[in-house]
Formats: sequence, C-alpha cells, structure tokens
Amino acid sequence: MMERKDLYSITALFDTPDEIVNAVESVQREGYTKYDVNTPYPVHGLDIKMKLNPSKLGYFALVFGLTGTITALFFMWWSMSKDYPLVIGGKPFFALPAFIPVTFELTVLLASIGTVLTMLFFYFRLPNLSHPLHDTDYMRSVSNDKFGISIEAGDSLFEKDRVNKLFERLGAKTIGEIYFDEEEKSKKPKIFEPKFIIFLLLTALIISGASYFTLNKMLYMAPFNWMVTQEKDTPQSHSKFFADGFGMRNPVPGTVARGAMPYIFKGQPDLAGEKLVNPFNPDEKTLAIGKKKFNIYCSPCHGNFAKGDARLNGQFPNPPSLHSDKVRNWSDGRIFAVITEGQNIMPSYAQQLTADERWAVILYVRALQRAVNAREDDLK
Ligand code: HEC
Repeated sequence: MMERKDLYSITALFDTPDEIVNAVESVQREGYTKYDVNTPYPVHGLDIKMKLNPSKLGYFALVFGLTGTITALFFMWWSMSKDYPLVIGGKPFFALPAFIPVTFELTVLLASIGTVLTMLFFYFRLPNLSHPLHDTDYMRSVSNDKFGISIEAGDSLFEKDRVNKLFERLGAKTIGEIYFDEEEKSKKPKIFEPKFIIFLLLTALIISGASYFTLNKMLYMAPFNWMVTQEKDTPQSHSKFFADGFGMRNPVPGTVARGAMPYIFKGQPDLAGEKLVNPFNPDEKTLAIGKKKFNIYCSPCHGNFAKGDARLNGQFPNPPSLHSDKVRNWSDGRIFAVITEGQNIMPSYAQQLTADERWAVILYVRALQRAVNAREDDLK
C-alpha cells in the first residue's frame, strides 16, 4: 500500500489511563522512539514508562546565566580597573564584594530572559504557530476524556500496517491518521502577516501614547493636579497670605516646647529665689552628676571646694567663697538665678548646663558648704 507523503502520524485513542500506560509499554517494546502521548490530565509515572529524559532547558539557563556573570565581571573589571580606574572609598580597583550585586542581577536577568526565549523559539518553534495535531478530532478527544498516543511517520521503524495492527491488538477505540496541513505549511508564519504586524504596531502606539498622556499631561490637569498646586507656604517662600510676606511663621508668643521650662525670672534673681524650688533630693546619683558638672564648669574659677581659689592664675578675677553666710543662706532658687543668668562678671552657664544639671550642681555646692560648716550633730 502506498503511503501518502504528507502523513504525520497514526493515532490511537483509549478510554482509561491504565490502557494508555499499557500501550506505552508495548510501543516501547516494539522499539518506536518518535511518538507522543496526550492525556486530559497528567498521568503519573507516564514519563518513566516513556523513558523521557529530564528537560534540557536547565542547561540553557546555566549557559545564559554564566554569560551574564562573565559579562558583568568583565565590564566592571574593564571599566573600573583598566579603562578608568577610580579609587572609591579606598577599595581596590577590582572590588569583588562591591561587584557582587550587579553580577548577581545580570546573571539572573540573562538566565531568565534567555530561558524564556529558548522555550519560545527553540522548543515551541516560534514564529511557527501550527502543529499537525492542532485542530484535529484527536486533539479534541484527548483534551476532553480520552487518552491518546501518536506514532510519527518519521520514526525509522514506522510501517503503516504494523502500527495499525499494534493499535488494534492493544484494543484502541479509535485509530486515525494525521496529515500535515500543506496549506498551512506553505503559508508564512502568522506573526509575519501584515495584519498582525499592524495590530502589533497599533497596540504599541496606543499603549505608549496612553502612558505618555497619563504621566505627562493628565496628572497636571484638574482634579489630578490638586496635590501639586495646593495652597501652601514653604519655609523659604514668599507668602501672599500673611501681611508681613513671610512664608515661615514664628511660634505664637508664649509657646512652650514640650519638655522645656522657660526661665521667667530674667533680671529678678530675688524673685527666682523666692519662687523656685529644687526638684531633686541630694541622693547619690544626683550628687554624682552635680560633682561632675561642678568640677567641669565651676571649679576653674571657684576652686574644687568652692573656696574661691581659682586655678586660672589671675587670668580672671577670683570669685568670692561660696561658703559665705550670704550664699549659705540663699535659697537654691537664688543660686539657680546666678548660674542661669550669671552675676556681674560671672557669665551665664545656661548654655552649658540643662536646668536639671544646674539643680544638681546646687545640691553639690550645698554638700561642700555642709562639709566646711558642719553642724554639731553632723559629727555624732
Ligand atoms: C569664669 C569664672 C567663673 C566660673 C566658671 C563660675 N563662676 Fe561663679 N562667680 C565668678 C565670679 C567672678 C563671681 C563673682 C561675681 C560678682 O562680682 O558678683 C561669681 C559668683 C558666683 C556666685 C555668687 C557668689 C556671691 O557671693 O555673690 C555663685 C553662687 C556662683 N558664682 C556659682 C557658680 C557656679 C555654681 C558655677 C558653675 C556652674 C560658677 N559659679 C562658675 C566666676 C565664675
């Protein structure tokens, strides 16, 4: 019997997965290699029965990935150690740790893009979109509820009668022949058809046009531009709203920052002495802070024990002793006023010491006074 030249394969349909597994075993035993199986759902173990090798796609991924690695490292070596060496943060010209992120990214980029393109153009044979099995009753059956096998005419052992007999012996429900669609084959691949190309160009044009319009025009039209053109004053801007023309506003008079206590007794040290109360007790911690700050900020003029014996060798007039009756009888608040505002030639120490530190220094001065003027019961 003459075989038609354009025969692609002979197909057989079975009803159950067991039958198709059995058929695959027989086809294997007969020695056919160019055949394929189509099932409506994955049948486990079929790939083992068909002796299918693992996909080779992984090797393509490896090659593309390594290409990315080498390209990245080469260009960074060439541009940063050869062509235009730059010292960056004292690193060597070929600073591998710093080059890893770029290398990694290019590796992953090329591996993924390369793998997808290989799949599309090498395995799926793009731009060819047709396959003889497409659009056949066989395909319609196997994508519904039948299990099909198709032995290709290209197999070296292929003989029409032998294949037909094998399928009959296996109890195939339907045996059919698939022919190449000559018309389809002679046609140019669909993606080169002018219609498709025009469709592609139009789509690209519309999408880029829409993006351009959205990002460069629409966002600057009402109501989308409300955020951009809202009425507001920035610190350095001129204001049309306020009479003085300043965009930056001062706090309302009397505003107190959270956690800060303004000093309201300026020029009235006696009133401060009357009203202010030391918020701390002379405990170990407070006295330690007070001693530290006193030794840093006060002792150069007042001496380590506040006796007025300055260490400045006459560069600054010696202050009076702080053990005088006058200062001993002052309230803590009165001394606070001196430290905060200064007194005559003694400058203010409000910049160097926080209010809390000033109170701690006062407690330390009290301790010094007590040490020099001990009471009788202190000695008991
Ligand atoms: C630059 C040197 C200098 C430093 C530092 C200094 N004082 Fe004075 N202090 C003086 C002088 C000078 C006087 C006397 C001022 C005057 O003529 O009324 C004085 C006066 C005083 C008085 C009032 C004494 C009185 O009898 O009227 C007190 C209290 C005082 N100082 C506390 C301190 C404390 C606490 C510190 C540390 C925070 C300090 N001083 C740091 C130079 C200094």
